Amino acid sequence: MSDRPTVIAIFGVTGDLARRKLIPALYSNFIKGRTPEPLRIVGVGRRDWTDATLIDHAHQSLKNYAAPIYDERSWDCFRQALSYSKVNLPQPETYPNLKDDLDALDKGNSNRLYYLSIAPEFYQDVICNLGALGMARENGGWRRAVIEKPFGYNLETAQSLNRTVHSVFNESQVYRIDHYLGKETAQNILFMRFANTIFEPIWNRSHISNVQVTVAETVDVGTRAGYYDSSGVMRDMVQNHLLQLLSLIAMEPPSAFDADALRNEKVKVLQAARAVKLEDTVRGQYDGYRRAEGVAPDSATPTFAALKLFIDNWRWKDIPFYLRSGKAMRQKTTQVNIQFKRPPNSIFELTESGDYSRNMLSICIQPDEGIHLTIEAKIPDQQIAKSVDMELHYENAFVAEDLPDAYERLLLDAINGDAALFIRGDEIESAWKIVDPVIDGWACDPAAPPMHSYRQGSWGPAAADELLEREEHIWRLSCLH
Ligand code: BG6
Repeated sequence: MSDRPTVIAIFGVTGDLARRKLIPALYSNFIKGRTPEPLRIVGVGRRDWTDATLIDHAHQSLKNYAAPIYDERSWDCFRQALSYSKVNLPQPETYPNLKDDLDALDKGNSNRLYYLSIAPEFYQDVICNLGALGMARENGGWRRAVIEKPFGYNLETAQSLNRTVHSVFNESQVYRIDHYLGKETAQNILFMRFANTIFEPIWNRSHISNVQVTVAETVDVGTRAGYYDSSGVMRDMVQNHLLQLLSLIAMEPPSAFDADALRNEKVKVLQAARAVKLEDTVRGQYDGYRRAEGVAPDSATPTFAALKLFIDNWRWKDIPFYLRSGKAMRQKTTQVNIQFKRPPNSIFELTESGDYSRNMLSICIQPDEGIHLTIEAKIPDQQIAKSVDMELHYENAFVAEDLPDAYERLLLDAINGDAALFIRGDEIESAWKIVDPVIDGWACDPAAPPMHSYRQGSWGPAAADELLEREEHIWRLSCLH
């Protein structure tokens, strides 16, 4: 490791993400000895804070969100890495102050990570202002930018943002975050598929009947209406998290576990997606959403979406991928269920449930991280089968290891220059190409399916069940308590 200092400049340090995730993740990496030495963390914000205010803020953040790993001695070391720099994001004249502050720490020759944890309307300003002062130039150490989601509001704005980003940074300097890729169990999809030999031979249209991705949340819009009511579930969850999970499930084996090889394969999946028909979509809004603070009383923002899509390639042609996500649902769960085909010829009686021999592989991303394989077993003393689960739970299989937060992994990867778990520019655009026509169709097409309301604490509107029933499929869930 070089002696060159590493400086992490967190734009938006006074915000929620920094408080809840970034500061605790940096601290956790720091106490595990994983961050480079020497390390400087510069909080960047609009407020009139001093270094001491930032240190207090970070202290509170750790006490609230990293209590189990907090200890005074490490904090005393960590706090020495912290300082604050004031910038008014859209105002170029405030950036020389930031540049001076950063240069003072390292004489301009450090490695630098600019973390943009700010409202997306400021992304272009910040990038241009950094560019204007040559702050992206790699004269000595590296310069990288981490950009949070949402990356664009639709294809057009994502393309425009990509153009701005590329006018200042090379693609290899850019780390677009989707925190779902930092989740251990999402990464395990790759290990499960490509570190084993038993799954890949059956991972195709000959053996798989359908694939289901469920990302259900119990939380409602809460205090985020300002952002959420103009975004909705398609932009907030489907464009990024669900399509990322889908890519991991559907991609071809990459030739190596490196950023380019991996992302080349993921992007091919998104590019092979058939245009989604509006009749294959369901939108819903939970009862009471329009009464939430900050939500327009006549809001047409969906808080739930379900869709059926197809990947038109040799592996997946005509196999439905069902995606659904919603807020205010019955249980928080993220899972991928791979439903296999029935045996071609049945010699046994139907199972107890009547759903004869439907093997299912469930990849449980959260909260009960693990893998379940549903197989049919003979009920003792009877000639009928019953579905039983073979289960792997992370908490049992990896007793000694804790499950790091996604941001810990991602921050470390960005510092180490590993972009495998970040989204490339073309990938982002391909994802928008899938969701944009659905969002636009819902807004303008008279033939679009209606908005359904659904009860809080349910699994969403009944229309989402009907979407699957048309093909004689049903939503399957595993890993629930
Ligand atoms: C974020 C969305 O990207 O992901 C939120 O903006 C959502 O609306 C969150 O609640 C879900 O993340 P997790 O890790 O709790 O599943």
